Amino acid sequence: MDIRERINGIFPAEEEIPAECRLDGAVELREYLVNGELRPWEGALQEVRSPVCVRTRTSVERKLIGGFPLLTEKEALAALDAAVCAYDSGRGLWSTMSVACRIDRVREFASRMEGERDRVVELLMWEIGKSRRDAEKEFDRTVDYIADTIDALKDLDRVSSRFVIAQGIIGQVRRAPLGMVLSMGPYNYPLNETFTTLIPALIMGNTTVVKPPRHGVLLFQPLLEAFRDSFPPGVVNFVFGEGRKIGPPLMASGKVDALAFIGTSKAANALQKAHPRPHRLRLALGLEAKNPAVILPDADLELAVAECLAGSLSFNGQRCTAIKIVFVHESIAAPFLHLFGEAIEKLPCGMPWEQNVAITPLPEPDKPSYLTELIADAERHGARVTNEWGGLANATFFYPAAVYPVDERMRLYREEQFGPVIPVVPFGDIAAPVDYIVSSDYGQQVSIFGRDSAHIASLVDHLVNQVCRVNINSQCQRGPDIFPFTGRKDSAVGTLSVSDALRAFSIRTLAAAKETKANKELIRTIIRDRKSNFLSTDFIL
Ligand code: G3H
Repeated sequence: MDIRERINGIFPAEEEIPAECRLDGAVELREYLVNGELRPWEGALQEVRSPVCVRTRTSVERKLIGGFPLLTEKEALAALDAAVCAYDSGRGLWSTMSVACRIDRVREFASRMEGERDRVVELLMWEIGKSRRDAEKEFDRTVDYIADTIDALKDLDRVSSRFVIAQGIIGQVRRAPLGMVLSMGPYNYPLNETFTTLIPALIMGNTTVVKPPRHGVLLFQPLLEAFRDSFPPGVVNFVFGEGRKIGPPLMASGKVDALAFIGTSKAANALQKAHPRPHRLRLALGLEAKNPAVILPDADLELAVAECLAGSLSFNGQRCTAIKIVFVHESIAAPFLHLFGEAIEKLPCGMPWEQNVAITPLPEPDKPSYLTELIADAERHGARVTNEWGGLANATFFYPAAVYPVDERMRLYREEQFGPVIPVVPFGDIAAPVDYIVSSDYGQQVSIFGRDSAHIASLVDHLVNQVCRVNINSQCQRGPDIFPFTGRKDSAVGTLSVSDALRAFSIRTLAAAKETKANKELIRTIIRDRKSNFLSTDFIL
C-alpha cells in the first residue's frame, strides 16, 4: 500500500479498534479536588474529543472520549484559598512537618500512582495521541523522577542537619517552602512536566493548585483519590477549565507565591502581569524553543539523519526540545535530504496503540491546517516538500514534511511549528547558522554534527554561551533528568532538574543565635527533646 492510501485509510472504523485498546465508555470527570474533598460539579463540561478519529461510511470524526468541568473563577479561588489556608502563613501542618514525614507521604502517593499505570497510559494515548510506548515511557519516567527527587531531598537534608558556628554565631541553614505554588503543565507531557514541578514544590513543603493543560486532563482522574488521601487537606488542589479564565484571577489575587508554567511566553507574560506584586513571584517557566541542528560537511551522515529524525519527529515533533530547523552544509544537502526522506518513509504511521507506531494523530484541532499554511508560505517563496507525500493531511493526521531550501523570508524559518514539519536550510559558511542562533529569540539547545575536533570545540565554546545545552552528534533532549534543563532569552526562566527543582521551589532560611551559654543550652534542649522540625540534627537514612 502506498503512503497516500495508508493515510487516507489511517483511521479505524469503531469495530476495527482492538477490544483491549478501547476506552471503557466515555470518561466523565465531574469532580475536582479542593481542600481534601472531591467536590461534585454540576455545571458545564468541556467535551473531550480524541485526536484519534473514527471512520464511518461518510466521514471521519474525532472520537468523543469524555468531558471535564469548566470551572469558573469562583471554584478556582476556593481552591486557591484552600491552599493558602493549608500553608497558614508558614504554620500549616505540611510546611512545618519534618522532611522525613513529607517524604513518606510522597512515597505513599507514588505507590498509589503506580497502581494506576495502565489507566493513565490508556488516557494519555486517547487524549493526546501519544503512542503506547511513549505514554508508558512518560509514566515510568515520572515515577522514576519522584524516586530521584526523594533521594535528592535526602541528600540536601543531610547537608542541612548540622549547625555552623562562625564569628560567634551558631546557625542552622535549611531550605524552606515559598508558600502557594500554581502549577500548570503542557499538553505534550501533561503528566511528566506537571509532576516535575508539582512534586518538588510539594516535597519542599509548599501547598499547590494544579491546573492541567487543555489537552491532557482526563488522565489525572485516576490520580485524584491518591492525591486526596496522601496529603493533608488543601495541600494539593486540582482545578479544571479554561486557562484564560482561571489563571488570571488566581494570579490577580496576589496569593500565588510561585508560578510553574510550561507553555507559551505570551500566556506566561499574561499570568505574570496579572500578579499585583510581580517582584514577589518566583517563576519556573518552560517556554518556546526553535532548536537547530547544524550538520557540518564532515558529519557522519547516517548518524545525523537518525538523530535529526528522532529529534524532529518523536511524538510528531511536539516536544519543546525537538529539533525544529536543520542547517545542512550545501555540499551534503542533497544526500542528506535523500536519506532523510527515506528515513521518514520508514516511520510507521498509525494509531497510538499500534506496535512500533511513530507518527500518530495530533491533538490540537487547528494544527494540520496551521502546518499546511506554513508549507504553502514556504512554497510561495520557492521552497518545496522534498519527501514523497510530505504534508498530506487527513483530519487530525499529518504526514511529516521536510521543506527545502528554507530561508529567512519564510515563516518556517523563525516560527516554532511544534509539529511534523522540518525546515531544512542550506549553508556555505558556518557563520550563517551561528548568526541564526545569535539572532534567535530562543536559546534552549542546539545539535551539532561533525568530526573535526577543533571545529566542534570552537562551536561548543561559543554556543554554550548562546543556548543551555550543546548536543554533539546527538539529538536535543531534556533527559536524563539529573541534567539541568533550562534556556536563555524567551525559552525559559529558572532551571529544572531533579536537584535544581528542589531549589526552585524553596528558599534558604536559617535560625541563628549568639554563642552564649544560655543560647547553647536552649538549642541543646530543643534538639535533645526533638521540639523543632527545623532546629534538628536528625539524619535521614
Ligand atoms: O517538551 C519538552 C520536554 O521536556 C522534552 O523532554 O526531550 O525528554 O522529550 P524530552
